[in-house]
Parts: sequence; C-alpha cells; structure tokens
Amino acid sequence: MRVPSFSILSTALLLVGGSVAGCYGKPSTCLDASIVAHTGTPVGKEVKHGNLTLYISQPDKKNARAKARAGAAVLLLTDVFGLALPENRLLADSYARAGYLTVVPDLFNGSPAPGDINVPGFNTTEFLAQHGPSVTDPIIAATVSYLRSKLGVIRIAAPGYCFGGRYAFRFLDDDAPAGGVDVGFAAHPSLLEAGEIAAIRGPVSIAAADNDNLFDAAARAAAEKVLAEKPEKVPYQVNLYSGTSHGFGVRVNLTDPQQKYAKEQAFLQAARWFDHSFGLE
Ligand SMILES: *[C@@H]1O[C@H](CO)[C@@H](O)[C@H](O)[C@H]1NC(C)=O
Ligand SMILES: *[C@@H]1O[C@H](CO)[C@@H](O)[C@H](O)[C@H]1NC(C)=O
Ligand SMILES: *[C@@H]1O[C@H](CO)[C@@H](O)[C@H](O)[C@H]1NC(C)=O
Repeated sequence: MRVPSFSILSTALLLVGGSVAGCYGKPSTCLDASIVAHTGTPVGKEVKHGNLTLYISQPDKKNARAKARAGAAVLLLTDVFGLALPENRLLADSYARAGYLTVVPDLFNGSPAPGDINVPGFNTTEFLAQHGPSVTDPIIAATVSYLRSKLGVIRIAAPGYCFGGRYAFRFLDDDAPAGGVDVGFAAHPSLLEAGEIAAIRGPVSIAAADNDNLFDAAARAAAEKVLAEKPEKVPYQVNLYSGTSHGFGVRVNLTDPQQKYAKEQAFLQAARWFDHSFGLE
C-alpha cells in the first residue's frame, strides 16, 4: 500500500482538523500575549456608585470575542497598591481586550499602600489589619450587586492578585455575600487560609511564583492538597512559573524575558480559565 505523500496527508489533516486548529484562521476571536498591556495610558474610566469607586474598562462591543461574552464580566481584585498603580488599570484593560466588561473596585477607599511598601512610615501590619475581611468583603459584595443589578451581568469571573487573591477564593463560596462569583483565579495569593480554599464551590486557577514567601512551596502544596481532597470536587489548576517572585502577575522587570513571559502567561491562564469555565472557547 502506498503511503500518502506529506502534502496530501497534511491537507487532509487541515480539512479534518479545521475546528481544532485553535487560533489558526480566527484572528478576531483568539487570545495571545499581544493582548497584554505592560505600559502605557490606561483606557478605562473611574466612576462613583454610592460610596464605591470603580475603575471600569469596556470591551470593544463590535469585537467577536466581546459579543460572545455579553452578560459576563471580570471583577478584578487588586493587590494592596489598588487603583493608584497603573499596572492594575492596565490589567483591567487587558481583560477588556479579551472581551470581558471589567470592573475594579477601590478596595482601600482612596488610601492604598504606597508603590514601595518599604518607605519609612508605612506600617504593613497595621495596613493589613485595617483591611481585613470585615472591611473588604462588603466592598466586593457591593460591587457584585452593582454588576448584577445595575449592569445586568449574569456570570462573574474574579481574578485576584496578592491581597485580592484571597478574596477570589472567599467569593467563590456559595455563602459569600451578594451571591459571590462564578469562577476565580488567584496570582500569588497572600493570607489565604485553608478553610477559605475548602469552602469554594466554583472553578479556581492559581498562578504561583517560585520565589514567594507569602505563598511558598509549602503553602502551595497545602492548597493543592485541599483542592484535591475536597469532598465536593471543583475544577482547579495550579501553575508554577520559574524565575518569578511575588507580584509577577502585576509588575515584572520587563527587560527580563522570563519574567515578562510569565506575566503574559499568567494573564492568558486566567483569561482562558474564564473562557473555559463559561464554555466560551
Ligand atoms: C456604603 O453604602 C452602603 C449603602 O448605602 C452602606 O450599607 C455601607 O455601610 C457603606 N459602606 C461604607 C464603608 O461606608
Ligand atoms: C506597626 O503596627 C503594629 C500594629 O498596629 C504595631 O504593633 C507595630 O508596633 C507597628 N510597627 C511600627 C514599626 O511602628
Ligand atoms: C532587569 O532584568 C535585567 C535582565 O535580566 C537585568 O539586567 C536588570 O538588572 C534587572 N533590573 C532590576 C531592577 O532588577
């Protein structure tokens, strides 16, 4: 029997595999690292709603990805640097380019941590004590209510970074205030407790740094064990990025190719996790 020539075989594969060829031939609906903005001027708007301050980044409604994502939103939960850090607004803009209406609540009521937490006079312990769950949960709950009742959002994906990572888990709990969110992602979460991981009822994805004393190898292994052994199974994913440290999902040394790559991949990890969880691939 004659083996088909390479060209016949590859043509046949292309024809059969047309629908599984990923981005091939579908540029308007596909995600790649070009969607991630590292620098530049944020394009969203800050709005007030009662005592909430929200940064809102709108997708291009003519874009095929955005059309397919109408009714879904990203609720981005920031690190301690909040809306004052341009990188946090740029991350929101990147989620909007991925097709999602994106809303970022000011979790710190206009007073986030300074960009360099080592400046004299800033007391991290005190700051974190002032922004525990009793203060932060109501802000996120009010944002969830705003999304559902004012913006008509049906499905919410919550990516959380560092400080915000813990709250992505807290709001995946069925008993979370305002009904919580539907799918979560946490990059290098801090202060995350085993009980908070055990209580989640929706899919979660984690991006971890290999040099992170706030979510080190032991904390990561413990989190994986809780996820794997949960009696009520939820889909989960844990990715470890080498050459990175705490905060890499938000800010990296852009001249270090490995760090830049890791930040982009962590973003794509989150966006694809949301797409997948919502059946929007
Ligand atoms: C914000 O406003 C809501 C509704 O008016 C109120 O219940 C809540 O206590 C307020 N929160 C703060 C932190 O002032
Ligand atoms: C920081 O705040 C904590 C809690 O309020 C306090 O115990 C500690 O002494 C403070 N540290 C400094 C260096 O002021
Ligand atoms: C950033 O990364 C480059 C390339 O690895 C390195 O030469 C430079 O020292 C780094 N900058 C900082 C501030 O760490």
